[in-house]
Amino acid sequence: MLEFKNVSFKYDIDEEPMMTNLSFTVNDGEFVSVIGASGCGKSTLFRLINGLEKPQGGEIYVDGKLITEQKNYSSFMPQKDMLFPWRTIEKNVCIPMEIMRVPKDEQEKRCTEVLNQVGLIDYRKKYPKDLSGGMKQRVAFARTLVAGANMLLLDEPFSALDYLTRVDMQEWLLKQWQNSGKTVIFITHDVEEAVFLSKRIFVIQDKPFSSMESVEVPMDYPRKREALKRPEVADLKEMLISKLRRRYTYEK
Ligand SMILES: Nc1ncnc2c1ncn2[C@@H]1O[C@H](COP(=O)(O)OP(=O)(O)OP(=O)(O)O)[C@@H](O)[C@H]1O
Ligand SMILES: [Mg+2]
Repeated sequence: MLEFKNVSFKYDIDEEPMMTNLSFTVNDGEFVSVIGASGCGKSTLFRLINGLEKPQGGEIYVDGKLITEQKNYSSFMPQKDMLFPWRTIEKNVCIPMEIMRVPKDEQEKRCTEVLNQVGLIDYRKKYPKDLSGGMKQRVAFARTLVAGANMLLLDEPFSALDYLTRVDMQEWLLKQWQNSGKTVIFITHDVEEAVFLSKRIFVIQDKPFSSMESVEVPMDYPRKREALKRPEVADLKEMLISKLRRRYTYEK
């Protein structure tokens, strides 16, 4: 589905590169997370995947084709819901389709479908201010889905939510993922969140980085939160936390 081949990248204003010769793959339909300390380049990875930044070296492929030769192959959901307060929920969901000039009747059809899917059809005429934080993130997710891409890039989508809402949203997201069959790449600071959601976790430990360790999560889907208490899962969580902390210690 996604392949990085020897990708190197440096922001113009920086002296040091952020990544050098990075190669990794994500399989079709997989749920993977990317964890790493703040500022290590997680969001930049997404900017490279969706073409907002261009690598100085290497290639990025989606479905075996260079990303520079295709459009609408990925859909991005940011940390904040970024809904427009003056637009109704349905009008917010339609934004990507407006940009893609999808005909109006098709827009309505897809919008109804996706709002049904995320359980918010009754809120279609309401405004973002009328919804809770979790509901707004569900609208933002619906908007990410409606663009039709098979690869979803979710950048800390739940980090602004309170703990209990976040836990609900994680379970909700896993159901959405399983129903949709889409490939999800999920950035998070929260190791437990990464463990609960992902099949594999990529760990960024260095700066610049030239590889990401890929760690398999030993749990089957569908998942229950109780499984997080299993010794091998609890150990994995601790191992990941210590990997991330080691980097901070080096920096001090
Ligand atoms: N548009 C930009 N131009 C120049 N430098 C940037 C730009 N965006 C990010 N950076 C720098 O690149 C580094 C990595 O940023 P990035 O946003 O990818 O990190 P991150 O891992 O997503 O961090 P966080 O966990 O805090 O979101 C940071 O040092 C940041 O200051
Ligand atoms: Mg970021």
